[in-house]
Amino acid sequence: MPVPFPSLHPTPAHTDADAAASADSVIQGDRLTLENRMDSANHAAAAAGQDVITGLTQPHKALPPKYFYDAHGSELFEQITELPEYYLTRTERQILATDAGAIADIVGPCDLIELGSGSASKTRLLFNAYQQRGLPLRYVPVDVSGTMLETSAQALLTEYDQLTVHGLVSTYDQALQNLPPTDYPRRLIAFIGSTLGNLAPAPEQRFFQQVSQALASGDYFLLGVDLHKDTATLEAAYNDQQGISAAFNLNMLKHLNWRFDGNFDLTQFRHVAFYNEGDRQVEMYIESLTAQTITLQALNLTVEFAQGERLFSEISRKFDTEVLTQELLAFDLAVRHIFTDDQRQFALLLCQKQSSDAP
Ligand code: TRP
Repeated sequence: MPVPFPSLHPTPAHTDADAAASADSVIQGDRLTLENRMDSANHAAAAAGQDVITGLTQPHKALPPKYFYDAHGSELFEQITELPEYYLTRTERQILATDAGAIADIVGPCDLIELGSGSASKTRLLFNAYQQRGLPLRYVPVDVSGTMLETSAQALLTEYDQLTVHGLVSTYDQALQNLPPTDYPRRLIAFIGSTLGNLAPAPEQRFFQQVSQALASGDYFLLGVDLHKDTATLEAAYNDQQGISAAFNLNMLKHLNWRFDGNFDLTQFRHVAFYNEGDRQVEMYIESLTAQTITLQALNLTVEFAQGERLFSEISRKFDTEVLTQELLAFDLAVRHIFTDDQRQFALLLCQKQSSDAP
């Protein structure tokens, strides 16, 4: 039986930072708590589109990746995860299907905090393993989309009758700085889906620092990363035959059009993605096919594009498990186990926080 609880949202919203009730509002049900940590400053900044103005007026144009994910963008990304060329999601799911039991055995009863939980489709493999072993677990999904959290939490409570859920409508930063108190022996922070690859090295270091600070000695961190491999495989994953990757990338412009009353003509831009092997990252750009002037009326912004000029949209870094293991150790996160697939395409690193004076 689903647990009834009042809606967190007065209006349906499908943007990154949903307009929700005021910060720190808590909605409590029998097995479900939803806590809204998005404060009005977040909403004001998002509404103003200051990040778009900054990104489009700098010498090397760029847009924050959050503009990928309007309703259509989220749908397109779902389609990407099912593409034959996009091995990432499928491979990570396969690793979890094989090794979730081993993870449950190592970690034991825990508070499972998932950063960027989305629909939690892969996380279910962990819930299954916990359920089979009769191990208790509280799920703490963290997502900036309250709508997403609410929908997926409802589904989970119906599917898993032993599960309790404490959802945080929050950015990762805010969540890590102040995790909800727990009665479980361990915390497990999960950051899967290779989202780490979308962070440049400096924010990656800050992120590890925050994870490490959020954990007590003995707690765990589960990290899913895509591994360095041949250029052809990587470039195919980001330039699929059906053109879904291209549609996903260009959808950023459509998103800006409706959000800020813009006039981007999507036929005058193209998707570009290639592997920069030196930096071990796939780089995604939107390239202007002509010299053109764009206006975003709601931002009072006019932007010139030269023919062939590229707007940077995202990086997707590809990792080496040995290098990553060393980097994590610098933050007292000791890799206890590396789970990978037969072809070593993708890896899940199970790390344990150690006290800083540990050998
Ligand atoms: N986060 C995704 C990744 O790193 C982003 C992504 C996948 C993407 N395919 C894309 C971004 C195509 C732009 C275009 O894998």
